[in-house]
Amino acid sequence: MSKALEGVRVLDFTHVQSGPSCTQLLAWFGADVIKVERPGVGDATRAQLRDIPGVDSLYFTMLNHNKRSVTLDTKNQKGKEVLERLIKQCDVMVENFAPGALDRMGFTWERIQELNPKMVLASVKGFGPGPYEDCKVYENVAQCTGGSASTTGFDDGPPMVTGAQIGDSGTGLHLALGVVTALYQAKVTGKGQKVLAPMQDAVLNLCRVKLRDQQRLERTGTMKEYPQYSNGKFGDTVPRAGNASGGGQPGWILKCKGWEADSNAYIYFITQAAVWAPICKIIGKDEWIDDPEYATPEARLPKLESIFATIEEWTKTKTKFEAMDILNKFDIPCGPILSMKEIAYEPSLRATGTIVEVDHPERGKYLTVGNPIKLSGSPTEVTRSPLLGEHTDEVLAQLGYSAEDIAAMRAEKAI
Ligand SMILES: CC(C)(COP(=O)(O)OP(=O)(O)OC[C@H]1O[C@@H](n2cnc3c(N)ncnc32)[C@H](O)[C@@H]1OP(=O)(O)O)[C@@H](O)C(=O)NCCC(=O)NCCS
Repeated sequence: MSKALEGVRVLDFTHVQSGPSCTQLLAWFGADVIKVERPGVGDATRAQLRDIPGVDSLYFTMLNHNKRSVTLDTKNQKGKEVLERLIKQCDVMVENFAPGALDRMGFTWERIQELNPKMVLASVKGFGPGPYEDCKVYENVAQCTGGSASTTGFDDGPPMVTGAQIGDSGTGLHLALGVVTALYQAKVTGKGQKVLAPMQDAVLNLCRVKLRDQQRLERTGTMKEYPQYSNGKFGDTVPRAGNASGGGQPGWILKCKGWEADSNAYIYFITQAAVWAPICKIIGKDEWIDDPEYATPEARLPKLESIFATIEEWTKTKTKFEAMDILNKFDIPCGPILSMKEIAYEPSLRATGTIVEVDHPERGKYLTVGNPIKLSGSPTEVTRSPLLGEHTDEVLAQLGYSAEDIAAMRAEKAI
């Protein structure tokens, strides 16, 4: 079966996580992704958080599947010439260097357009134009400046970052959409363009509902679905809402059987209005069904803390999986808190290719997250990440260099 992006060539000048997560998606959709790395060193993540000495880390392997690796010193004259040939022959160039690094290397947008007017140049930067545009940025800086940290955690605790890499992989996803959109437009206009996904903006996009809440708070001074509603402690900005879910469908994380010993023996429980009667019956509170103090979502809002405490008395008598089975029979939305260990061995995720076992010549078998986006006409096969410079000769030959040229460049340490 063909692949959606077959025939698209991507010059992957990315490192760490945000850029590589974007180009990995493009590779999974069938693009030929050529990763350009510094000779002898490569992407810094190859050596970061290593679990096997001298072997590419899981950090690197899990973000660079289905790519080819070329080593090239792009500050060396010969290396620059190779990069120019690559620019001429690729449709997309993706980079996430510090602001200005590509210009300092001599590859300004003007120069890239001279070389290839159809080029789509896609960049991740920490910030868009503004006071912080020259700053280097990593994941948690983006979470903190994009509105996630100030709205995550509990009211009486400090701001919190989340375990989900919304700043890095979240921005990579945004960038990938920008790339395919620009490629689509280039089909009509015949011209490339720049695509910019600032990490702050990507995180803020994912925190959209919190900007909604800021405006609601400014207009009304309160928000009934927040835990602060019952004790009246709102300030002038969106507070941290703990584990609350919004709107007329309040939710909370509740202890399940075994919580004393197992830090993940919990379930997320949503008291969706439509299933209030079955909830009351399951927890043995039939009288709440018609009691005006509990019967409507509006009446329940000021009492959520005590309502969830009562529901928890029931969830504590069941394991999270038993509770899930019982509650789902009545369409009560809930979700067990799954540990990474439970997720790693979940058969349904293996069956769909969302968790995949990959074989690597140096590290052996390891697990990775496969393509989470499923296209019925473009299936994804996850292949291992390349070794440093594994495809240098192959790619240079495709660019028209002879074996002698390649040997000379190697002697000069340009590759
Ligand atoms: C992630 C980040 C903080 C890392 O910073 P860093 O390790 O100092 O790396 P830089 O991007 O500054 O690049 C370092 C240098 O390597 C050079 N370099 C990279 N690849 C090269 C190659 N193949 N050949 C020669 N030089 C190369 C760059 O040109 C740059 O040189 P310069 O500083 O002289 O201009 C920074 O790249 C950044 O802010 N990126 C944008 C935001 C981002 O993506 N952050 C998320 C990362 S998950």
